[in-house]
Amino acid sequence: MAEKRPVKITETVLRDAHQSLIATRMPTDVMLPIVETMDQVGYHAVECWGGATFDASLRFLKEDPWERLRKLRDGFKNTKLQMLFRGQNILGYSHYSDDVVEYFVQKSLANGIDIIRIFDCLNDLRNLETAVKASNKEGGHAQIALSYTLGDAYTLDYWKETAKKIEDMGANSLCIKDMAGLLTPSKATELVQALKDGTQLPIDLHTHYTSGVASMTYLKAVEAGCDIIDTAISPFALGTSQPATEVMVETFKGTEYDTGLDQKILKKVSDHFKTYREECLANGLLNPKVLGVDIKTLLYQVPGGMLSNMVSQLSEMGAEDKLDEVLQEIPNVRKDFGEPPLVTPSSQIVGTQAVLNVVMGERYKMVNQQAKDLLAGKYGQTVKPFNPEVQKKAIGDEKPITCRPADLLEPSLEKFEKECAQWKQQDEDVLSYALFPQVAKEFFEYREAQQTQVDATVADKENGAYPV
Ligand code: CO
Repeated sequence: MAEKRPVKITETVLRDAHQSLIATRMPTDVMLPIVETMDQVGYHAVECWGGATFDASLRFLKEDPWERLRKLRDGFKNTKLQMLFRGQNILGYSHYSDDVVEYFVQKSLANGIDIIRIFDCLNDLRNLETAVKASNKEGGHAQIALSYTLGDAYTLDYWKETAKKIEDMGANSLCIKDMAGLLTPSKATELVQALKDGTQLPIDLHTHYTSGVASMTYLKAVEAGCDIIDTAISPFALGTSQPATEVMVETFKGTEYDTGLDQKILKKVSDHFKTYREECLANGLLNPKVLGVDIKTLLYQVPGGMLSNMVSQLSEMGAEDKLDEVLQEIPNVRKDFGEPPLVTPSSQIVGTQAVLNVVMGERYKMVNQQAKDLLAGKYGQTVKPFNPEVQKKAIGDEKPITCRPADLLEPSLEKFEKECAQWKQQDEDVLSYALFPQVAKEFFEYREAQQTQVDATVADKENGAYPV
């Protein structure tokens, strides 16, 4: 047998898997009882924080995301914890000033994160610089994720060159983030080989099962030299989530890529989440629809979420019959917009514009603010230039920016500190507030109300008002 080169497994059940399958609604209480067992598995890392979990904790679960992180850190004594970080957008949806990005990175690491996976929707590496530097400074592991997409600009040379640049930037590893499940097995072989040519960094592959090819893609990628794959424990795997952990572990058993993970311990993890999955099916949180194979994503090269957005936009306009036209219009809009990857928020911008172009009967007759911002350079640089005519039509005489968008932002941490001072109970509160002011404020008020209630109960008990 060839020299052993065990493939490493990053488990996503505590972040991407439930974000993809149940709208990020898994509460901390469901996670904690299984943490000690998960800690014995020997995962390379557990992805458990960031992405949409921060917003969903505050907004829907009325949980403090920082407290969740500290509790997970307490339980995971041996396992690295990983988060997903949207570059200069942190965990929000617009660009933040560098001081906020730096402070967020610092506090994430201080509260227990080991690996920060950082990406940008345009793959504009300038939008990743501040976060990578901050992570380096604090001794964190900065993993840069490239948003995978198809198109004329995305040649193997493009990926290889970008991988080189990522290494030069000070990243500790590189991830291919295939959010739509577009990467097919044979393409994975080529891509991983190209990346390996471009960089010495460990390569992590992140894909989704959406189009049904993902576990074969992992097999091919690992055979081509991929070091780490992202999987989800089976009750929260497949469909729009990741390939199943147990299946990938079994696939490599006895080969040079043997993960060494114990199926008996994985079974305990699986049993725990199976119970929760049943609950989610019963209460409707898990829609069986998302569990099937959706081949449309391969046919049209658009992520599933983007497709369903466009369908609902069209039905609101009473133009459901125009879907085929819209799908044909997408590649045109994408070209005019500099051929960006289709991931939040660029997927929404391109999708909405394609809908408008078709429904209005004239291209770019109507352009929304997000699209104008994109064409004005406010999201960063696209891999190809914008169509100058379209740009002119959308932003008129406004002068587009070419610098890193955050260079135009004044420091803002102090302002946020002042605005949220009245609710502040921990340093981290200012970061929750900076990202989601309204949602954080509502959460802070809820938190205070809960505390007053608890105080009152304690006081009553001390007064003997309740039987013990
Ligand atoms: Co993902």
